[in-house]
Amino acid sequence: MLRAWAAVLFAAAAAALPGRAEEVGADVYRRACAECHANSAPIARRFANLAPEARRERWEAFLRRHHGGDADQRAALIRYFESAAPAR
Ligand code: HEC
Repeated sequence: MLRAWAAVLFAAAAAALPGRAEEVGADVYRRACAECHANSAPIARRFANLAPEARRERWEAFLRRHHGGDADQRAALIRYFESAAPAR
């Protein structure tokens, strides 16, 4: 019984995780970027023409020198951009 509940809780937490990363990213964006880039749409589309792995690398390199915050904040931002503007 207890094990069944643990499985249910684990599944619920796992399902919630991707959405939470995007929300954290949206929040980081509001605090770190929105002051200068009020419209997030064109920013999110940046590098969207690249393959997923290359896109993440470009964003990571860029955010390291442009207001990206710490590693967790950069990762959350990248997840947010990927969900807001999926690569074609
Ligand atoms: C203090 C102001 C400021 C903040 C804060 C800021 N930026 Fe910028 N950003 C600029 C300026 C100025 C440019 C250069 C604009 C230009 O001439 O293309 C720029 C350029 C960019 C570009 C390149 C745009 C292009 O057309 O190539 C991207 C992408 C970008 N910023 C993303 C971000 C993100 C993501 C954040 C938050 C983590 C952020 N910026 C925070 C001022 C800011």
